[in-house]
Amino acid sequence: MRFGHFDDANREYVITTPKTPYPWINYLGTERFFSLISHQAGGYCFYRDARLRRLTRYRYNNTPTDAGGRIFYIREENGEYWCPSFMPVKKKLDRFECRHGLGTTKITGERGGVRAELLFFVPLGQTAEVHRVRLTNLGDRPRRLKLFSYVEWCLWNAHDDTTNFQRNFSTGEVEIDGSTLYHKTEYRERRNHYAFYHVNEKVSGFDTDRESFLGLYNGAHEPDAVARGESKNSVASGWAPIASHSLDVELAPGESKTFVFVLGYVENPPDAKWEKPGIIDKRRARELISAFATPEQVNQALDALRRYWDGLLGVYRLDSPDEKLNRMVNVWNQYQCMVTFNMSRSASYFETGIGRGMGFRDSNQDLLGFVHMVPERARERILDIAATQFPDGSAYHQYQPLTKRGNNEVGSGFNDDPLWLILGVAAYLKESGDWAFLNESVPFDNDPKRAAPLLEHLRRSFHHVLENLGPHGLPLIGRADWNDCLNLNCFSETPDESFQTTGNREGRTAESIFIAGMFVAIGPEYAELLERSGHAAEAAEARKHVARMERAVLEHGWDGEWFLRAYDFFGNKVGSRDNAEAQIFIEPQGYCVMAGIGVKEGLAQRALDAVKERLDTRYGIVLNNPPFTRYHVELGEISSYPPGYKENAGIFCHNNPWIMIAETVVGRGDRAFEYYKKIAPAYLEEISEIHRTEPYVYAQMIAGKDAVRHGEAKNSWLTGTAAWNFVAIAHHLLGVRPEYDGLRVSPCLGKELSEFSVTRRCRGATYRIRVTNRGGSTPRLKVGGKPIEGAIVPWAAAGQTVDVECEV
Ligand code: GLC
Ligand code: GLC
Repeated sequence: MRFGHFDDANREYVITTPKTPYPWINYLGTERFFSLISHQAGGYCFYRDARLRRLTRYRYNNTPTDAGGRIFYIREENGEYWCPSFMPVKKKLDRFECRHGLGTTKITGERGGVRAELLFFVPLGQTAEVHRVRLTNLGDRPRRLKLFSYVEWCLWNAHDDTTNFQRNFSTGEVEIDGSTLYHKTEYRERRNHYAFYHVNEKVSGFDTDRESFLGLYNGAHEPDAVARGESKNSVASGWAPIASHSLDVELAPGESKTFVFVLGYVENPPDAKWEKPGIIDKRRARELISAFATPEQVNQALDALRRYWDGLLGVYRLDSPDEKLNRMVNVWNQYQCMVTFNMSRSASYFETGIGRGMGFRDSNQDLLGFVHMVPERARERILDIAATQFPDGSAYHQYQPLTKRGNNEVGSGFNDDPLWLILGVAAYLKESGDWAFLNESVPFDNDPKRAAPLLEHLRRSFHHVLENLGPHGLPLIGRADWNDCLNLNCFSETPDESFQTTGNREGRTAESIFIAGMFVAIGPEYAELLERSGHAAEAAEARKHVARMERAVLEHGWDGEWFLRAYDFFGNKVGSRDNAEAQIFIEPQGYCVMAGIGVKEGLAQRALDAVKERLDTRYGIVLNNPPFTRYHVELGEISSYPPGYKENAGIFCHNNPWIMIAETVVGRGDRAFEYYKKIAPAYLEEISEIHRTEPYVYAQMIAGKDAVRHGEAKNSWLTGTAAWNFVAIAHHLLGVRPEYDGLRVSPCLGKELSEFSVTRRCRGATYRIRVTNRGGSTPRLKVGGKPIEGAIVPWAAAGQTVDVECEV
């Protein structure tokens, strides 16, 4: 069942009922100021850090769901009132539509001859949400309506805001200045920032105190002030500060009126905080307000935002007969990659914004999906990440975006982390050719006294693996590898302990075949970087280590029909047919084959056939099988999940693309594309009632075949799934990706698409690639009409357009 449709021309998903199976959300903002917004205008906004600078309040895991947002109430002459977004009043609408687009959300509700259109966006370069509200009288009698706005302020620190009530109920402060309502809690003391909510029209009243506006025993669905038809002009003091305007709106038949609301954030220099004692200096707020005083200014800002997205999405463009594929590749997958770039794993409808910061492994992998759009910002991100590495090559598992410092609570010891840095840097260099980057000086552990060239960081990453090998010559796993929940050294027996950081035995026995696969896949990338930066002897040495690791995998990591997952603390096999539960895991099958291990021996195909047979389902590939049914203290969190969920045999979408890419390694494009279509959200639109999360973005997990709710997704938006699926489809199936000497064109996606073309901008030139596809995997290329050897189109000078024909 569908709950809307794609509007490809406008790059929007159009939701046509307020009752989607879960709040379907969007993100606003491109740089410092961000918002989450659901199809009912729920969600919140923050400046840079969702924990420390949260502007508006949101209530996670509440009933009804999606509590907190930007609410507009329309009160009719007879005292009835409704919300164009449906929630929270839930009065039946004659029409509802929500258009989630690239950085914009437009919600339209109609009732009793009145149309209300709410448009939300964060203009480029601004620290504000703009809400454009347009009311139209569709009927033939004049209308006298009242419009009420409502947002609830968060007292900045989102964690404190939900826990520290003994203090918070006494700190709230506001200021009122005509149509602008200021929130200035804690501004008197150490904060230099405040927020405001403004409307470009004279108001008939306002409220800034929640209890006055709603009534103590009322919810947002029955605000006292709206029911009475009159604001109370309340001035908050402690308790819960809010901002609500009321406007009298008269509309002749057919007439429309537009109001522009600005919900903004301002920082003042510490010595220029006050206009006079106790009164905040409002100059910056007024500047922001005057930038959006008229609907024309709003339109200009919308145009600028559209052009910004045209630019970003113009870098990789597909034109194929499959409209679902086009909309994934051209719009939604890339859009999601930008959101993961901005948010990492911090703020979504499943991540509260107060938990984790940026992940070392997560950010390096996310980069693979956005480096082509914003190489300069990828460069910056790599420098931030690398600065949280330790001198021994290990790394903080997470760091805070505001401070850019490593997070001590989680610490280090996730032994896959260091290798992802090499992959991230290689991706950036292929995109940009910026070789000087390797010489950039980067601190270890954020300590400028211990800085070294970036290349040295990569060297330490590579050697960290070699310095931490176990009894079979395979990499030690540490607290966990990519699979955060395979905790082979932690042995937690007490509820409330962290599975990852408790009781680490400093074991030097538990080994990961997954990290071994990564080493064989990423090691050659490192060797190539060395070679191309003038370290040929060292490169040769690195290649020997890689070859040795490959032999170790073949000798100790092959289980007969597939790759083993690990050896545990006691030296027992994990992911083997000898095990009663979890005999096979997806991760080593994907990464070992991506590394090319066992390809010439025919083992790779067998491993992938085992994936097909044992892990594949109608909704995607599960992580392991059979699932764990009881808790295995020696394996950790993985066995704590009920069968079929999350890392315990859920369809963990992040690693499905590894299998897709692996299938292309053995030349089986048909199967790769089949896997792609099972989890790519646009192909799941028709089963939205089962899938439940947004049909335009990937979710981290879909419940596996052993779960009660097989096919149901969770944790949409912020997941490495976005980057890896983009890499799988764009680089490996459609087969267009940058390499050091040129653009590789080697499609492998089976017979289904007989023709397609890709336009790729890279290093200033444009490549127009037309593919005639017979389902093979050895391409024949012509560049400017002339046949070339191999699959790499040499780089052209900036400004040039190159025509490429490919037959495969
Ligand atoms: C989550 C984490 C990621 C991890 C994955 C598997 O998505 O963000 O770092 O690799 O789970 O456990
Ligand atoms: C990853 C996993 C999650 C686990 C967490 C622990 O995000 O997906 O299941 O709880 O790591 O850090």
